[in-house]
Amino acid sequence: MFLTSMKGRPSFVLRSLLITVFFLGYFGDVSCDRFVDKGGYLLWNVGRNVLDRAEDRLEFSFRYCNDKGLLIYQQGEGQNYFALGVTEGRLYIEASIEDRVVEVFIGESTQDVVLKNHTHEVIMTGLRGLDSDMRITINGTEYPPQILTVVSVELSFSSPAMSGQTLVGGYKNIIDLRLNTQRLKAYPIVCMFYIRTGEGEDLSALSLTSTDESLGASDTCHTCPQPSTVSMTTLTSYIEMQIDKTPTTNTVINFKFRTKAPNGLLLYFGGPAYLAVYLRSGALVLRLNTKGSGVDAVRQSTRVAPFNDGEWQEITIRRDNNVATMYSLAGDVLARVEFVGESSDTAHVLNAEKLFVGGVADPRGLPSDMRTSFRGCLDDLRFSVGEDAPLPYEFQRQNVAFRDVEFSCMPNQTCESYPCRLDRGEACDVGVCECAEGYRTVDPVPLTCENIDDCGPDPCQNGAICTDLIADYNCACTEQYKGKNCTVDRNCYYFPCYNGGSCLELDTPTRNESGRNCTCAHGFTADDCSVVDYCADNPCGVGVCNNYLSGYNCTCPDDPDEIVKDRQNCGPLAVRSPIQISPAALVIVLFGVAILMVVVIVFLAFRRSYLKRKRDALLDYPKSPVYEESRENVVEYGEEGYGEEDQDTFDVNVIQSAGDTLKHRKKFPVLSPEDAAQVEDFISSRLSDADVDTNAGARDQKMSFADEGRGTPAASLSSLNSSSTEEEQSYVYLQRWGPRFSRLSDMFNDGQSDSD
Ligand SMILES: *[C@@H]1O[C@H](CO)[C@@H](O)[C@H](O)[C@H]1NC(C)=O
Ligand SMILES: *[C@@H]1O[C@H](CO)[C@@H](O)[C@H](O)[C@H]1NC(C)=O
Ligand SMILES: *[C@@H]1O[C@H](CO)[C@@H](O)[C@H](O)[C@H]1NC(C)=O
Ligand SMILES: *[C@@H]1O[C@H](CO)[C@@H](O)[C@H](O)[C@H]1NC(C)=O
Repeated sequence: MFLTSMKGRPSFVLRSLLITVFFLGYFGDVSCDRFVDKGGYLLWNVGRNVLDRAEDRLEFSFRYCNDKGLLIYQQGEGQNYFALGVTEGRLYIEASIEDRVVEVFIGESTQDVVLKNHTHEVIMTGLRGLDSDMRITINGTEYPPQILTVVSVELSFSSPAMSGQTLVGGYKNIIDLRLNTQRLKAYPIVCMFYIRTGEGEDLSALSLTSTDESLGASDTCHTCPQPSTVSMTTLTSYIEMQIDKTPTTNTVINFKFRTKAPNGLLLYFGGPAYLAVYLRSGALVLRLNTKGSGVDAVRQSTRVAPFNDGEWQEITIRRDNNVATMYSLAGDVLARVEFVGESSDTAHVLNAEKLFVGGVADPRGLPSDMRTSFRGCLDDLRFSVGEDAPLPYEFQRQNVAFRDVEFSCMPNQTCESYPCRLDRGEACDVGVCECAEGYRTVDPVPLTCENIDDCGPDPCQNGAICTDLIADYNCACTEQYKGKNCTVDRNCYYFPCYNGGSCLELDTPTRNESGRNCTCAHGFTADDCSVVDYCADNPCGVGVCNNYLSGYNCTCPDDPDEIVKDRQNCGPLAVRSPIQISPAALVIVLFGVAILMVVVIVFLAFRRSYLKRKRDALLDYPKSPVYEESRENVVEYGEEGYGEEDQDTFDVNVIQSAGDTLKHRKKFPVLSPEDAAQVEDFISSRLSDADVDTNAGARDQKMSFADEGRGTPAASLSSLNSSSTEEEQSYVYLQRWGPRFSRLSDMFNDGQSDSD
């Protein structure tokens, strides 16, 4: 049972039985794939009516590998037919009903509706009129029919007008097809998963295994193989393929080739007897000798267009007994030969052992036309003996031997025996040297090429100078313009970079300030390098430099919140808290302390000598020559320094009473040695306290020494006036070391401010 139908109104039992059979058939066929190879087909005889009611609903699922091909074909009476297949990436229906031809594409021409190597599930309904009432969904998406010819037809697969043979996946013989166009004249190499026809409950599945005839079909569905290509590079190239089948009466060979060379051997299947195909002056020649002796049967193709046009050509050669026929891809007969030899006892079995492609290992002994190898590319070789459909060969894996071949198709690899003179503008193109792009062929024999002047007419605009190149030209633009033809304004001209900055012109179609990039010279910044870059020398060091039109300032790591304003560097002097003293500052501090100590020592020394002389004077008054001075000194001493107000520890009564005594007795009281020592100790201890006591009153210290001793023989004892230059006496910087040093600074600086 190849067709399960649910027609009629049988009894309940029969109906149930039929439903069971229906589902068995239905699901059985879902899993039953049918692969139909190139050159193969599935065939149902006349009257089987396998597509019954497909005009109502036709469902099928398939995957295909070739560029185009016939999927389903129903022969009718007379010129009637219905054909469905793939071409140009779309499904296509071509039908002829009562001499009216209908052509319908499914989907827009811009769409790849059915991709190669992908599985598609197609549902077609309303095919009866082959018009816009058709509904076609592919993998769930509906595609509109594109009807090329609007005619009124009535399609019915059950009518006697459509009762011929049915083909699926290919065809047995092209001449049995009545196709009006070339669109489906090819083998799709297809995997057919199911075909169902009918409507609703009556949908029935066609058993793809219950054919009356088939070729090249198997139950194993293959994915599309990658193409197997070889290129023949020299005049002695060849590849010999494995053949493990004993020759019989039939042979089928199919392959594609591509060349520009007019001559060369394409195929040689032979031993003593042989079948050969070769190119002669661009025509294909078929040659057969099934006996290995006698006069060969030779026939050249009648096609006008040459076969060495650089395009892919596909041919099939079928040999039955002593007759060989060469077909084009579409199935047209290109040549047919019949070998009869010299006698009537012609051999029918080709006594051949070797299959050579593109050339032979040893061409000696062959007819002269067959001695040079083909140069160009070969693809998709298929070969069979006996009744099988031709099986694909992989050149690289299934060869016995080869010479000068590449297992790829590179048009420029195929001229090795005639190396093209590249320096004279020649280039290799699938087997021959031609004038390269950009050159004109002055003479084909011998090949003479001339560089085409691409500067005539001059394409360069705006005063540019044109230089001719190979298939190209170069315009040297004036500085305002750029572009292939110097028609676009240069941004670097209209928006220059200032102050010696270099300008990079960017690719813009129109004049645009952002269409150029300035790299500024050192010390300058901004998009056009017009702002001085105060940060160029990195004045902030570890900090961040902020450049402004008028200057810069620093954001330093120790002051990220920028509390200190307008910092010019991030050096240690700018540090505020905690105090950190640099080694240099420390040296200065120690030096200051040392100076202070020297001053104290000198002071003490002078004071001691002063006191001694005063005591001597008092003891020897008025004889002493220093009397006047002594008196003066006493007065000054009395005025001197409110430091002596510190009466807790220093008794000035001694001095005051000395004054009183002088008035009345004209005699100074004597300062006893104990008192003198006491004064000395007091001063020493106060000075040493002062060295360590940061809270000591400054006035005490200052007044004690700064105003002291003027007019005495020792002159001033103040160290603060001892220096000769003012700079050395400026201790203002000490204030910047922090509060603890400001007192020290005050101490030193008061004397200075007095002298100012
Ligand atoms: C087809 O698809 C299979 C896997 O889905 C992949 O291996 C194979 O290479 C494909 N064939 C071609 C010709 O793209
Ligand atoms: C340059 O000029 C040539 C010749 O007029 C023209 O064909 C081409 O399109 C132009 N190219 C550009 C980028 O304008
Ligand atoms: C401009 O130049 C600078 C520095 O060389 C670079 O970082 C930037 O990406 C450039 N801009 C463009 C648009 O090329
Ligand atoms: C730096 O200078 C700019 C401009 O004069 C000013 O706005 C900003 O406050 C300054 N910042 C600091 C941390 O001084």
